[in-house]
Amino acid sequence: MIPTLPIPITPPRQGAEGTARPFRLAVQKRGRLTDDSLQLLRDCGLDLATHQARLLVPATTMPVEVLFLRDDDIGDYVRSGVADAGLLGENVVHEQGTDSLIVRRLGFGRCRLSLAVPRGAVYDGPASLAGLRVATTYPRLLAAFLERHGVQADIHELRGSVEVAPAIGLADAICDLVSSGSTLFSNGLREVETILPSQAVLIARPDLPPPAERLLQTLLFRIDAVQRASDVRYILLNAPTASVDAISALLPGLQSPTVMPLARQGWCSIHSVIPADGSWDIIDRVRALGAEGILVTTIEKVVA
Ligand code: PRP
Ligand code: ZN
Repeated sequence: MIPTLPIPITPPRQGAEGTARPFRLAVQKRGRLTDDSLQLLRDCGLDLATHQARLLVPATTMPVEVLFLRDDDIGDYVRSGVADAGLLGENVVHEQGTDSLIVRRLGFGRCRLSLAVPRGAVYDGPASLAGLRVATTYPRLLAAFLERHGVQADIHELRGSVEVAPAIGLADAICDLVSSGSTLFSNGLREVETILPSQAVLIARPDLPPPAERLLQTLLFRIDAVQRASDVRYILLNAPTASVDAISALLPGLQSPTVMPLARQGWCSIHSVIPADGSWDIIDRVRALGAEGILVTTIEKVVA
């Protein structure tokens, strides 16, 4: 089933090599994931001809066009072949039951689908929801949660603004996405249960024709390089030659650290790659071994 489109768009590819339109990647139009999704694409070398408020924007650096959609629609577009791939929240993918389309978890847009109740309400576990009205835009995930816990509650499906439902008397509890928690807080709600942790994911059609499949692989290769880079830092330092072995042992690097003699007698420069987590700990330890002039910088890409 092909969703109805607001403007005419080339129909799904026929799969023939050579006749292909540009690779079409769907991204959330306006929302939590939009900025980080576009940043990831830029980091992967995909620059867009900037045209705010357009549905379909061609990339200037790759044979790709970006289709801006509501996150809830991205799955349908990819399944039907109108788009080849999409960036969206795992929460939406799970709700729509299309987990098999996920090709990468992207590590940003982390949030959770949670249950929340009015701040003063009693909650002693899922059984407390029995007989209550729970408002949500995630009826399938909520139903599965209630069933897992053997609880009968009334699922009240809404299209949005779930957080105001208890205050206006439409529901006794809600099941919604929580990121910073400020939406719950400002609506007098208390998070009581996490149903599903979520992050941004890349989904793709499983039956891509060869040119599109190659483009997807290029994109995945670049995403992996960017993700690996975000987990590490580059460290440069000067060390007394006598400490080089001890310091090198703390700096495994991608293969092993680079050690170069300095013009100054008895000193070396050491370069390496270290985990971003724990880089302060490493700095403390190499300083204790006599290191000086320590520089730590971010890395753009790591191609293993
Ligand atoms: C979610 C959710 C809340 C908000 C929570 O909406 O529905 O409104 O984010 O974030 P917070 O904990 O940081 O306050 P989202 O941006 O995903 O939009 P959508 O549900 O309309 O797709
Ligand atoms: Zn949405």
